[in-house]
Formats: sequence, structure tokens, C-alpha cells
Amino acid sequence: MMHFRISAILLAALGWALPVPALGFTPDFRFCVATAAHQIEGGNFDSDWDRWEQTPGKIKSGHDARVATDSWNHVDEDVSHMKDLGIDLYRFSVEWAKIEPAPGHYRMDEVIRYRDLVRRLRTEGIESMVTLHHFTLPKWVADRGGWDWDGITGAFDGYVAHVAETLGPDVPFWVTINEPMTVIAGGYVSDVFPPGKNSLGSIARPMQNMVRAHARAYHTIHRILDSKGFRPKVGFAHHLRNFDPARRANPLDRYLARKFDEVFNWSIPLATLDGKLRWKVPFLTRSNVFIPEAIGTQDFFGLNYYSRDRLRFSLFKAPFIRRETSRGADTTELGWEVYPVGLDRLLIEIRTLFPGMEIHLTENGLADRDDNQRIPFIRDHLAVLERHIRDGAPIRSYCHWTLNDNFEWAEGYTANFGLYSLEPVTLKRTPRASAIWFGKMTRSVKQTGRIPE
Ligand code: FCB
Repeated sequence: MMHFRISAILLAALGWALPVPALGFTPDFRFCVATAAHQIEGGNFDSDWDRWEQTPGKIKSGHDARVATDSWNHVDEDVSHMKDLGIDLYRFSVEWAKIEPAPGHYRMDEVIRYRDLVRRLRTEGIESMVTLHHFTLPKWVADRGGWDWDGITGAFDGYVAHVAETLGPDVPFWVTINEPMTVIAGGYVSDVFPPGKNSLGSIARPMQNMVRAHARAYHTIHRILDSKGFRPKVGFAHHLRNFDPARRANPLDRYLARKFDEVFNWSIPLATLDGKLRWKVPFLTRSNVFIPEAIGTQDFFGLNYYSRDRLRFSLFKAPFIRRETSRGADTTELGWEVYPVGLDRLLIEIRTLFPGMEIHLTENGLADRDDNQRIPFIRDHLAVLERHIRDGAPIRSYCHWTLNDNFEWAEGYTANFGLYSLEPVTLKRTPRASAIWFGKMTRSVKQTGRIPE
């Protein structure tokens, strides 16, 4: 016993004196690009977004997604570009409006198209992460009230079951709902997304329905696939931001930042821990519901990280709440603050709240047509991941948003997030300098475990 104790002390002392460097990016770390069906495929005529885009004034420059990147006719080229980039994982979404254009009427040819893509990727050594809802709804669901309609949980579940049955065996990662809070912020708090409610008071019901729909989909995917011997991992992709007061000493700004953090960032993720979806913004909105089926429904934490907001409350002049960037900060073409430290802050919180949970950076990127900022942006965010991985964090992938310039929702084609640029009419894809760098970077990381200088 004594002997054991002495050796343990000696070993500990040695470990302290000669720390063994923990591995950075391990060989199983996955580099990934992320896309969404509506933004790349074209022809999504049965969706609520198609209708929204035809409403004058909704999309910059009157653009729409009817052609987008015409991805189905460019699969060979796009997959070969993913190979050039050294991609191990492709995150893409399947389109509910195409798969079930009318209630209960399933287009098997559409589902099979996705299944063939997944198989094709597999033969190329690329795994799939499939998103089931990325902002768009079939028109028939929207017409019944969309996320306000309590029937959406069952409707979504029917569609999810179809997809899981057909694609399931080849898909190791599933995202049920992409950025639920962006849908709420864009479509309910404001009116940049459908249904354009523009009222903070309207958010409780759609949020509850999203958590219920997610929970049911989670259980359905596991029921279908676990029974066949597969072990898929299922989660959300949460858009988390850093919210800071515009004026540090101002109590109202501080209160705003705290409330945005509580409601926007954490209300939905925390509901998967204890089933309680709750928040309170006095006089404006509150929720206190228990959704027991949501407990334990994240096999991984999917994080979409882009930027931070400084919040300013002005009592006397509308708009009463303003989002600002830090003075002198580097910003992207969309005016988003470049803030890799924010990723560090959020990872610390995620690791505290969800200890040991596998983490995927399901989106990270920037609008940068001229490609001046993209390389340092990616490198700085990867450096944050590397530090956390060395510290023992189970971070398993980095998905860059995105492969090609595409239809960027309310911004139309005016915001260019692609590693590859897209020529408007010819749809020609051309690698930006950052794409060439990305390919070299992933290869070097695979060899050395480190991001190259
Ligand atoms: C995210 C969305 C994605 C894309 C990027 C730029 O919030 O999930 O579809 O629009 O922003």
C-alpha cells in the first residue's frame, strides 16, 4: 500500500514537472462544410419561403431561391470540391416541402435522391450530418399555422420517420431543427422571416412546439434506427451569440444582455436537461411549461457560432433596443463583429452546463466576397477549438458555412459566405484563395494535429 502511494506521488510529480502535451486535433476530428436545401437546391415551390420571396420587399434586390446553386445538377463538381477541401463530413438538409408537398403525400423519388447522395458521399469517404428542418416549412404546414399549430409535432414526426427509414442506416448524425431561436427571432419577434409576426409576445407557443417536435423526432429516429442496430447521434444546431451591454455600467443594457442570453441562448438547450422551458421578461413574454419527453434529447451539442452583439436600451427613442458592434471592432460585410473570443466563452459555458457532451461546431463562417478576412477568421476560430480540445473537450467537428455562395435568406445573393464563389447566371464555381488554403490546412492538421501557421 505504502509502495503504491509513493509511486503515485512520484508519478504525479513527474507529470507536473514534465507535462505530456495533450493531442490537438486527433485523427478522428472531422472537417466539414454545411449547407441547407433551400439555399442551394432551387425549385422549392411548395415551401413557405418560396411564397415569402415572391412578396415584394422581403428579400434584398428582389432575389429568390428558385435557382439557387442548382445543386442537384452540380453534385459531381461539388463533391469533388469537398474532396479538394479535405472534407470528412457534409452537413446538409433534406427539404420537407419537397418530400411531403401535400399532407401524407410522400414523394419517394425526392427521399431517394437524398439517400443516393448519402451513399455517394460514403463511397468518397465523407460522412453525412442530416438536418431535418432548416428554416423552411411546406406551405400546407404554414397555412395551418406553422410552428404555432399544435399539430406540427405529429406532422413533423411523420416526415422524420419517412426520412429515417430511408436514409437512416447511412447517416450517423442528425440535426432535428436548425437554429430554433433564429426562426423565432426572424419570424416571430421581427418580420425578416415568415410568418413575420413582429411581436415579442408571440414567441412562447412556437418555441414550445419546436421543443416538442424536436423531442418526438429524437425518439422516433432512435426507435427506428436503434432497433436495426444503428447508433445515430441526434441533436439540435443552436445559434448562440455573445450578448454584452453596449455600456458596461448601464443597468438597463446589462439587464438586456442577461435576458437575451437567457431566452435566446439557453432556454431551449436547458429544456433538454430538465424538460422545463421557462423564461420571464416582465410584461412582455414568459413561459413555464414542463415537456418531460425533451429530457435527455441531445446526444451532442450542435453549436452555430458567428458573432456577438452589444445591446443598448434607449428609453426615449425607437428602436428601444439596438444591436451594436464594439467600437473599432473588425466586422464582416454584413456588419457582424469578428469575435473568436466569443466562441471560447460559449464553449466554456457549454462544457459547464453539459459536461462530457460531444460538441460539434455545426456552423461558422462569414460574408466576405473579396476573401480578405476568411483565412484569419477560420484560423482564429480553429485555434479556439484546438485549445479546448487540448483541455479535454470532446469537440468532434468543425463545419464551415459554406461551400458555395448561395441564397442567404433575406440578404438574397448579396452576402457571399462561400469558400467557392458562384457566378450568377452560369453558376460556375470558382475556388477563392481561402478554399485552396482550407484544403492545405485540413491536410496539414491531419498530419500534425496542429493548425499550420
Ligand atoms: C445561419 C443559418 C444559415 C446561414 C448562416 C449565414 O444562421 O443557419 O442558414 O444563413 O447563418
